[in-house]
Amino acid sequence: MTKSNGKNISETQKLYNYAKTIIPGGTQLLSKRPEMMAPNYWPAYFKEANGCEVWDLDNKHYYDMSTNSVGACLLGYKDPDVTKAVIDRINKGSISTLNAPEDVYLADKLFEIHPWADMARFARTGGETASIAVRIARAAAGKSKVAISGYNGWHDWYIAANLGANESESGEILPGFSPDGVPVELRGTTIPFAQGGMGDQHPSVKDFDGMIAEHGGSLAAIVMEPCRGSDPEPGYLEHIREQTTKRGIVLIFDEISIGWRRNLGGSHLAFGVNPDIAIFSKALGNGHPIGAVIGTRAVMEAASEAFISSTYWTEAVGPVAALAAIDKHIKCNVSAHTRQIGIMLLDNLRDLGQAHNIPIHVNYGMPCLAHFEFEHELSQSLITLYIRLMLERGFLSGPSTYVTLAHTPEIVAKYAIAIDEVFGQIAKHLERGTVESTIGDDAAYFGFKRLL
Ligand SMILES: Cc1ncc(COP(=O)(O)O)c(C=O)c1O
Repeated sequence: MTKSNGKNISETQKLYNYAKTIIPGGTQLLSKRPEMMAPNYWPAYFKEANGCEVWDLDNKHYYDMSTNSVGACLLGYKDPDVTKAVIDRINKGSISTLNAPEDVYLADKLFEIHPWADMARFARTGGETASIAVRIARAAAGKSKVAISGYNGWHDWYIAANLGANESESGEILPGFSPDGVPVELRGTTIPFAQGGMGDQHPSVKDFDGMIAEHGGSLAAIVMEPCRGSDPEPGYLEHIREQTTKRGIVLIFDEISIGWRRNLGGSHLAFGVNPDIAIFSKALGNGHPIGAVIGTRAVMEAASEAFISSTYWTEAVGPVAALAAIDKHIKCNVSAHTRQIGIMLLDNLRDLGQAHNIPIHVNYGMPCLAHFEFEHELSQSLITLYIRLMLERGFLSGPSTYVTLAHTPEIVAKYAIAIDEVFGQIAKHLERGTVESTIGDDAAYFGFKRLL
């Protein structure tokens, strides 16, 4: 295991060390900081990406068994069909004084899949898509408070939740999301609640009911993912739907990460509960920036008066990529594939964990976002060790694999051989008590926690 900040520093690490001196935070996305994975070992940059394979600046090859661009590339990197559609569009010109007709085609395609929705607006990133949805909801409801239960982006309206109820709570509610730079005047405008399942005594339902009893009258919107680590228990989403309808609160389902992945379109389609607005991004464009806000006419019409406007929301590559990606989802039944591959992966982790007596918990709740964790007091160091040992074997890995169409049973089998070796080594470290001395100060840090 060679630490790349030694004498023979790699080109990849050299560039990242320099980047940290001119780009505050080093990267544009928190989750792509190497320090979140394996500080001083994780390669910061890619030269090429194809399918689920990546080459760093030193031409080192990896299979990506981690987040595949934090969920942006569900069809795999450089998907040939999406890439062809995008290149065709670029060759014809991707922007002009006039608008892209693909906006209209994409709106219709999204309504075909989500028949409850009548109107759409488009943006380019997830966070701004969520911000648009909140602007529309506030305009439609004529109220301003918003309740949240997961991560919905970096904008002021969302991070305001982390101002807490007072100065001593500031920064405490969403660890890792500093509220620095967010006007303190926004304190109390975004209300967090813990999301979860259902059942009379379920704490998250109680939390929701408590929150709605206190703030329901002044809430414009509730923004939540319909599911994340597992499906919601029957009745949970229905309960929230009933309460929001009763109180004139706009229900916004954030499908930015789970959309298209668990099933075709929004995950809410599988649960039979329709929101007033659903938002998509990430996998929608399979690596090309696009975000979509779809909703009922009654709510969305507020967007024709509210000021929501940006130059690059009119370029054509985003909607073209989305149209091609959706066609491929339909043609290839991508969600069935990601589920099947995810289960294979989880089975391997479970079986090899047992074989090596490794204390892990394997979560079968959402196989397309295959997740495991070490159940051990040294879990942070253990996951860092796992990632480092996997890098040596040519795998980008982590506690979660965002399965893509490009992951084949053959690649999963190669990864299983590596898991066997890595768990074998981890078992030895645990036995000898050498985990901490091996990782030293280089344990990965985890930036934030969802309110789940
Ligand atoms: C559920 C959810 N909403 C919103 C976002 C923000 O999207 P983006 O990073 O494109 O701004 C994310 C990103 O992780 C997300 O998972």
